[in-house]
Amino acid sequence: MLIKIPAKSELLENQITDESIYLQRRQILKTMGFVGAGALLSGAFAAKQAQAGILDIFESDEPQEVPLKSLDYAKAGKPFITDETMTPENKVTHHNNFYEFGAQKSQPAEYARGFVTDPWYLKVEGNVNKPLLLDHDALFSRFPLQERIYRLRCVEAWSMVIPWIGFPLADLIKQADPKSSAKYVAFQTLYDPKQMPGQDSRFLGGGIDYPYVEGLRMDEAMHPLTMLAVGLYGKSLPGQNGAPVRLVVPWKYGFKSIKSIVSIKLTTQQPPTTWNKLAPQEYGFYANVNPAVDHPRWSQASERRITTGGLLANNRIDTLPFNGYADDVADLYTGMDLHRYY
Ligand code: MTE
Repeated sequence: MLIKIPAKSELLENQITDESIYLQRRQILKTMGFVGAGALLSGAFAAKQAQAGILDIFESDEPQEVPLKSLDYAKAGKPFITDETMTPENKVTHHNNFYEFGAQKSQPAEYARGFVTDPWYLKVEGNVNKPLLLDHDALFSRFPLQERIYRLRCVEAWSMVIPWIGFPLADLIKQADPKSSAKYVAFQTLYDPKQMPGQDSRFLGGGIDYPYVEGLRMDEAMHPLTMLAVGLYGKSLPGQNGAPVRLVVPWKYGFKSIKSIVSIKLTTQQPPTTWNKLAPQEYGFYANVNPAVDHPRWSQASERRITTGGLLANNRIDTLPFNGYADDVADLYTGMDLHRYY
């Protein structure tokens, strides 16, 4: 997201020092050809390097790539798919917003390389009669998995078309048996600064007050389009895309689609949300995609569709109300002033 990151001069000395040492060490690794070469760290090559004493000092610094697993799933039909050109997998996994792993688009793929998401526990709690705790395997086996091809429109005015794999959030919430007092749903990302370097570094993490939190109104959470994704392009989610489980709400700006969720809590009050806390004039609670309501610093009338890697890579197209899902969701907001509730 485009935010005002404090100038280095505004940062405390210890916040800078930590980071520069970290980056310096990675630079050394890079120069030596180790960064991004996880595969080289196993087998004969690693043994040879270790013998020569080269790897010993860096071993704990270079996480192994976490293998993705292939998923069994059914393909969904309309309105859960689009025949628009899909964004290539490599773009989906290397142009990311995941500030816990760095504020630059390329950083999450690098810093989430060794993100360990098994074991994992997702709680469903709050105003429910049957609180639930799902472990890592339950996320993949408790509900039938479905592939849905959705548009993702970032508030920064770029967009993608992504084949997600997951299940309706409503199915999970129903199992927890919501009380009638439940009016909102609050989501929280894992807080683990040891694994997520952005969480204790203003430099990497963009000044966000972690853990990242998001929220939906109950009817939005129960809407059939709203899903929890555990995979994309046929495999489990890579760390940078929100492994092992993330929210996907296709008619809202991408920042509502919170990643790596550990808690889903049903509440009576509207919960606080990360970007709204950081810049309330710029990012609202609702964040419905709306070409008629500009961001205070840029237009939302059009978007850059990230498609191929070639010459046609950055097509500019008109942005549609509710990201093209108006027929399915406009009813949720009847009578609301969408300029006020942005
Ligand atoms: N969730 C967490 N925990 N941290 C983040 O920084 N970024 C959001 C959203 N979910 C973010 C997050 C933003 S701004 C966008 S646009 C989408 O994730 C991007 O998802 P993608 O990287 O899979 O395309």
